[in-house]
Amino acid sequence: MTTDVLTVQGLNVSVGDTSLVSDVDLTVGPGERVGLIGESGSGKSLTALSILGLLPDEVTATGSVHLTGVAHDLIGADERALSRIRGRDLAMVFQEPMTALNPTMRIGDQIAESMLIHHTRPNRSAARAVAADLLERVQLPADLLRAYPHQLSGGQRQRIVLAIALANDPALLICDEPTTALDVTVQALVLDLILQGVLARSSALLFITHDLAVVATVCERVLVMYGGRVVESGPVREVFTNPRHRYTQGLIAASNLETADARGRLTTIPGSVPSAGHFPSGCVFRNRCPHATDRCATTPAWSGTPATGYACHHPAGAPHA
Ligand SMILES: Nc1ncnc2c1ncn2[C@@H]1O[C@H](COP(=O)(O)OP(=O)(O)O)[C@@H](O)[C@H]1O
Ligand SMILES: [Mg+2]
Repeated sequence: MTTDVLTVQGLNVSVGDTSLVSDVDLTVGPGERVGLIGESGSGKSLTALSILGLLPDEVTATGSVHLTGVAHDLIGADERALSRIRGRDLAMVFQEPMTALNPTMRIGDQIAESMLIHHTRPNRSAARAVAADLLERVQLPADLLRAYPHQLSGGQRQRIVLAIALANDPALLICDEPTTALDVTVQALVLDLILQGVLARSSALLFITHDLAVVATVCERVLVMYGGRVVESGPVREVFTNPRHRYTQGLIAASNLETADARGRLTTIPGSVPSAGHFPSGCVFRNRCPHATDRCATTPAWSGTPATGYACHHPAGAPHA
């Protein structure tokens, strides 16, 4: 018996013989805001798409994904079952808002449609009234209800996608780089609207980003992914001030302006993220890690609990309190 909103256990994702995501365990509690961070190519989006049942055909997922209120496993569920859940219990906001919107439908109708499809409002006029309210919630003027997506800016479109995502009071909202494609001037507003939206509904949030500052603003707990694996997890403050995994330590140093050297050069993690199927055996980070030894040729065991722990043979910092 679990009280978590989302429970992912032993998630493996592969294409043919190439493993893309390995042994991912992840939980999100009721109303909890969990971040998933890591460099591009770490397996964050594939993890999200596995949960949503939106992996491309050539990609296979095994393991289990359970969502509160849904009796069956989402892995292996058929498309009809998944489309009943998606947009109702489980909502999403991706990087590119245009892909989520119908270019030929007015904004007001699209927001109302998301409620009518899932029968969460008794009729069209009730759904339209909620649509108007949602538009106000994302701080857009009411006359945009009659507009088409192409008449809006990127930031306005993403706010519409958010309004649609929140329309049915989802138990869980998954955001994958929701502000990465937007002008910096509107990023903070969209982030704030996401946060206010989930807080107002007590929805749980799984928030994916490569931007550590964003995670620090939005999330309570964080998981760090690299090479398709979760390498560290814990409360945001704990992980950011006292990282244990050498990869987390590198990520934080690389994001911190204060660690620039005397000539003003930023610290970076040496090397680059290997392409899928080209990570070393044992610890996936060992070919870029300044602390790697022969021991790292063996896979490090997870130390701690799934909610707070790491997998590293030569951890940094002090044991978590
Ligand atoms: N359909 C696919 N076929 C083959 N490899 C893929 C596919 N989708 C993603 N990958 C690879 O899987 C790895 C993880 O991708 P992704 O989850 O998108 O990373 P992230 O979101 O952390 O940047 C990358 O190396 C990516 O190139
Ligand atoms: Mg991604």
